[in-house]
Amino acid sequence: MKKYILDLTVTENVRLHNNYVLIKLTQDKPLPEMLPGQFAEIRIDGSNTTFLRRPISINYVDRTTNEVWFLVQLVGDGTRQLATVKKGDTVNVVLPLGNGFSMPEKSDKKLLLVGGGVGTAPMLYMGEALKKMGCKPVFLLGARSANDLLQLDQFEKLGEVYTTTEDGSAGEKGYVTMHSILKTTKFDMIYTCGPKPMMMAVAKYAKENDIECEVSLENTMACGVGACLCCVENTQEGHVCVCKEGPVFNYKKLLWQI
Ligand code: FES
Repeated sequence: MKKYILDLTVTENVRLHNNYVLIKLTQDKPLPEMLPGQFAEIRIDGSNTTFLRRPISINYVDRTTNEVWFLVQLVGDGTRQLATVKKGDTVNVVLPLGNGFSMPEKSDKKLLLVGGGVGTAPMLYMGEALKKMGCKPVFLLGARSANDLLQLDQFEKLGEVYTTTEDGSAGEKGYVTMHSILKTTKFDMIYTCGPKPMMMAVAKYAKENDIECEVSLENTMACGVGACLCCVENTQEGHVCVCKEGPVFNYKKLLWQI
């Protein structure tokens, strides 16, 4: 897919939580095509310590308002600086990058989308794409506590939503792989994004239950286009750049010991 370097304009910057902001960007022309699971490299302006762009997954594309949304977790100087943008500011982005999730061939498949922490972000856009093709996506979202469960109202518009929290303040207490929905429903396909231990546990569940599963890796990235090699993952096909060959992989392609 063709990649674009764009100066986009901030339409909204919503503080969802102490550690997360939702940044919405637009431009005069229609935004390019973007697929669920793809990401953007966002330039951080105005920082003395951050020189590299930040890879941020595409949270949602609203074609009615011509906006692309990014859910940003404030983890360091770069993302904290990015979180200060205001309506009307310009943000330079490179997108769309990487390969997204595969879409099912038929709409009658039972699909589970599992997100943990900020890894829930791409599941919103994926859920919408699945709903548009007539599927009924089921979401299983995990977080530390109720406050960290983000965009629930958006997810609820797209399908059934189940949650877990580590402290039991919302949904079932524990990790996503402990949720009762996994014992009561047999899914055909699982899509997952989140912390690596969570994705490995999800992939293990998929393997044990003979379910197809795609995982979205969050390896450290810099260039985002296969040039710096800092995102390399060892796979069944050798070493590959996650930014270019991924970030989405069928778990069977990875060398995970699960
Ligand atoms: Fe540079 Fe992947 S981020 S090669």
